[in-house]
Amino acid sequence: MNVIELPESWRGRAIVVSGEPPDDVVAPDSCRTDKRRREWRLSRAAARLLPDRAYVSYSHSEPYAAAAKDDVPVGIDVQVIRPMSERALHLYLSDAEAAAARACMLRDALLHFWCAKEAAFKRRFGETVTLKQTPIQMLAQRDHGLVFDVVETVAIGDVIVALTRPTS
Ligand SMILES: CC(C)(COP(=O)(O)OP(=O)(O)OC[C@H]1O[C@@H](n2cnc3c(N)ncnc32)[C@H](O)[C@@H]1OP(=O)(O)O)[C@@H](O)C(=O)NCCC(=O)NCCS
Repeated sequence: MNVIELPESWRGRAIVVSGEPPDDVVAPDSCRTDKRRREWRLSRAAARLLPDRAYVSYSHSEPYAAAAKDDVPVGIDVQVIRPMSERALHLYLSDAEAAAARACMLRDALLHFWCAKEAAFKRRFGETVTLKQTPIQMLAQRDHGLVFDVVETVAIGDVIVALTRPTS
């Protein structure tokens, strides 16, 4: 497996990997396709590399998988960079969030917002039904990512990764 280098402040809480998971990580029978078995195995192999904590979150975006662990609820999302249509914004962003996303000058800003929403949604496991009902507020733009009230994003190589903030 290859480990993707994440921001210093994320280390020990989050990990993104690609490549082949070890043979002793075996997917359950409920994973019926090769793709599903591979993503399950890769995300669980990633999680093994983090210290045990009370909460865990997983994400997959072929050929990558991600895991995050924390003592408080945590959410992670990884997305291979691809074009995002502005036309779909209203499906997952509130009007205020969509305005912030359109005004954001960061490259692939819409995908940063999508990724941030997915991570924030996962952190609230079961509390919110849709991404749109999961509020995020953008606070700052960095060189390669965005800071929201509950989540941060970073672009690394061909992926964007979002991780909820421990204080959120
Ligand atoms: C649940 C959801 C966040 C999964 O995201 P995804 O991009 O399909 O997949 P990812 O690989 O990033 O994440 C999958 C992991 O999320 C986790 N997960 C699934 N449902 C979850 C939930 N309700 N809360 C927290 N985590 C969840 C699982 O661990 C899963 O991995 P696993 O099946 O290997 O255990 C996604 O289905 C979703 O966005 N649902 C909200 C509905 C919505 O608003 N959709 C958008 C409309 S435009």
